[in-house]
Amino acid sequence: MELKRRPRRLRASETIRRMVRENHLRIDDLIYPMFVMPGQKQRVEVSSMPGVYNFSLDEFVIALGEVVKLGIPAVLLFGLPESKDSVGSGAYHEHGIVQEAVRLAKQHYPELYVITDVCLCEYTDHGHCGIIDQGRILNDPTLDLLAKTALSHARAGADMVAPSDMMDGRVAAIRETLDREGYSHVPIMAYSAKFASGFYGPFREAAGSAPQFGDRRTYQMDPPNGNEAMLETALDIEEGADLIIVKPALAFGDIIYRTKERFGLPVAAYNVSGEYAMVKAASAQGWIDEKRIVMEALVSMKRAGADLLITYHALDVARWLKEEEHL
Ligand code: PBG
Repeated sequence: MELKRRPRRLRASETIRRMVRENHLRIDDLIYPMFVMPGQKQRVEVSSMPGVYNFSLDEFVIALGEVVKLGIPAVLLFGLPESKDSVGSGAYHEHGIVQEAVRLAKQHYPELYVITDVCLCEYTDHGHCGIIDQGRILNDPTLDLLAKTALSHARAGADMVAPSDMMDGRVAAIRETLDREGYSHVPIMAYSAKFASGFYGPFREAAGSAPQFGDRRTYQMDPPNGNEAMLETALDIEEGADLIIVKPALAFGDIIYRTKERFGLPVAAYNVSGEYAMVKAASAQGWIDEKRIVMEALVSMKRAGADLLITYHALDVARWLKEEEHL
């Protein structure tokens, strides 16, 4: 048969496949999310996220050693405070759990890039990302607290802040406060396209941050909406966002693609807790090949246009990539 075009020619061996491969996972793409809590000598595994732990600060520093050794450039920190209240004071306390973790991380590993999640939900007794009046989540009064939180992280030495609350105007409020206080060099990675997703379930167990009433649909986006994600992103960029997060990642590849195509800024895909839990559960049953599934899912995010990958699989991925290097 006379077939001129035969795409299979370029798939004939691993060597030629390697040569024409279009997208690659790199250790430099990875951002590893970590949870810190009070106490000592504790490393408590999150039951719905095998391999993910809540670390006391001493154990956190030990765990960072492994992150650095693997060459992972960045961590994203979440805190479980000693106590919670209605205004989330633990979020912006000078000696709050995340602030202390940042200080320790920068002290032990100055080269490691430390990013902090800026939100109130882990610190409020009602579990919402803003302050509340008669069951309503108030937007503007929350902005001051978010800006205070970001500032306290910057003061502790955070290299970058990542607001995840989805209040309107938070990027502007944080940018203004950071600039006024001498932190104009600290970038903002905004969770711009953050959807009200069922995929956050295991995270809420990890961070003890499930809302005590209602849900997050009045501030996080409705999953069927794509144009709205473009609006949110455009607003965040206008307000000063330096990088954009799309979250979750797996079910939102179109949003990653559109964001990158339209805005061109660095985009981070957040491969969230539920995505991790599904892979871990199926792999524990022997139903899937964990490494293949993880690598395929993550490279799909890169193919869609993501530059950075926030993933609980980061340590495993870094190990796998190193192994392949040595083959
Ligand atoms: C805080 C926050 C959440 C996640 C990141 N930051 C939880 C939420 O919005 O309910 C989810 C991360 C994950 O599921 O891995 N607002």
